[in-house]
Formats: sequence, C-alpha cells, structure tokens
Amino acid sequence: MKSDLIEIAWEILTTNTPEHKVSQTYQAFEVFSDKQDINASRSNVSVQRLQIPGRPDKPELVLPRDLTRRSIGSLEGRASLLHSICHIEFNAINLAWDAVYRFRDMPNQYYLDWLKVAKEEAYHFSLLNEYLNELGFTYGDFSAHNGLWDMAVETDHDVMVRMALVPRVLEARGLDVTPGIMKKFKSVKDTRANEILTIIQRDEIGHVEIGSRWFRYCCEQRGLDHDTSFQSLLKQYLKGGIKKPLDKQARLQAGFTRQELDFIESNL
Ligand SMILES: [Fe+2]
Repeated sequence: MKSDLIEIAWEILTTNTPEHKVSQTYQAFEVFSDKQDINASRSNVSVQRLQIPGRPDKPELVLPRDLTRRSIGSLEGRASLLHSICHIEFNAINLAWDAVYRFRDMPNQYYLDWLKVAKEEAYHFSLLNEYLNELGFTYGDFSAHNGLWDMAVETDHDVMVRMALVPRVLEARGLDVTPGIMKKFKSVKDTRANEILTIIQRDEIGHVEIGSRWFRYCCEQRGLDHDTSFQSLLKQYLKGGIKKPLDKQARLQAGFTRQELDFIESNL
C-alpha cells in the first residue's frame, strides 16, 4: 500500500468496484489508523472537484420521486428498503474518503477520524450487502438516488461547510429515521435487519459527533460562534429545510446543542 493517505483516498474514491472499495478501505485502516504523521498538506496529489465518485454501473440513479415504493410485507419490499440503506452506506464510504482527500489543512486527528468513519461505513455496506445476498438480492438490483453526493459537491470548497451540511444534516437525518425503519422491520419479524440497524445507529451517532467536533474546531479557528454559524449555513444551503421529527436524544449524543435543535425545530 502507498505511503500517502491522500493518494490512497483518491484511489478508493474513484474505484468503481464495491468489493475493491471495501477491501482497500479495511487495508488503509490497518496501515494508517494510528499514524501521527499523515501530513495531508504535504501531499502532491492535486485537489479536484469530483462530480461522480467511483461507483458500479448499477444501481441505476433516478430522482427520489421516481423510486418505486414496495410493501415491507413482501420479500422484495424488505430487500428494497435494505437496498436503499445499503446505497446510503456505499455513498457514505465515498463521503468519508472525500473528507480525507479534499481538505488538507486539518490536524492529524481529523484524518484518523474520517479514516475510522470510512472503515465503519465499509462495514455497514458489507453487512447489508451480505444480508441482501442471503435474501437472494445484491447491491445494484434496485434503483437509487444521488442526493448524498450532490451535497458533497456543493460543499467541496470549505471543510467547515462540509462538516455542517454532510455529517450534521444528511447523516444526522439518518439518526432521526432509523428507529422508525426498525419498527417496520420489527413488524415483519426481520430480526437480522434490526441487528444490522442497531450497529449502524450506534456507529452513526459517532460519525455525526465527529462532524460536530470538527465543525466546532473550524468555527473556533475562524473566531466564529458555532451556533449562529450553523444556523446561517442551514439557511444558505437548505432550501427545503430539515424534515422532522428529530431524534433529539440521538442528536444530543452526536454533539448538537439544545440551541441548535430548537432552531431546527422552530425555523426549518
Ligand atoms: Fe454508515
């Protein structure tokens, strides 16, 4: 494996094969997870806008409104819901690596944190894809949408904006909706799906917390108040607001302040 984590991040980001993306991510974590000399600012790898990260030909990407809804009561319905989460986890591997690759002036721990997120997202993806395989399906069998990556491109100019909008908006939304999805699987007695979702929810609280921590770090570095900065970024970037209800307990664990939650609830 190469010695420049940034170069590895770019390679994994642009790799199309899910299996390769996952295995390279695990290997990178093995090699770099305790390194204290990442030195991203010294990497020779140029920073490029990435409109489309490495992804397989399937799933076919469609607009959210064109996704087919299926009943949770059928095997296809369960598989389709699992597939939509699997697709989110696939995107999340790319998002974590993009956080490593793109922003070069952060402390060493920032890169180690996002490396750990990448490894956990790869694990989530694998758990879901293996379970889909058990049910007779695989990643790519259903169509999917590309919303997660659109926000990555919109926020690729500034790490503070990225931390505010990707982990603290998109991934935080996962914290709100996962308990409801678990109820659906419980209603059809799919215990394996819920075992996997329990692992995902636990880890995702950690990922959003990492986003909160680095968002706050950026604000401190720039002499900005993090509550008001978060509010103004939400107003600037989120035309449609944040869907509710919020899972406040999970969000507080993930580093949101009460003031931020009150603002989201009353203004967005
Ligand atoms: Fe995840």
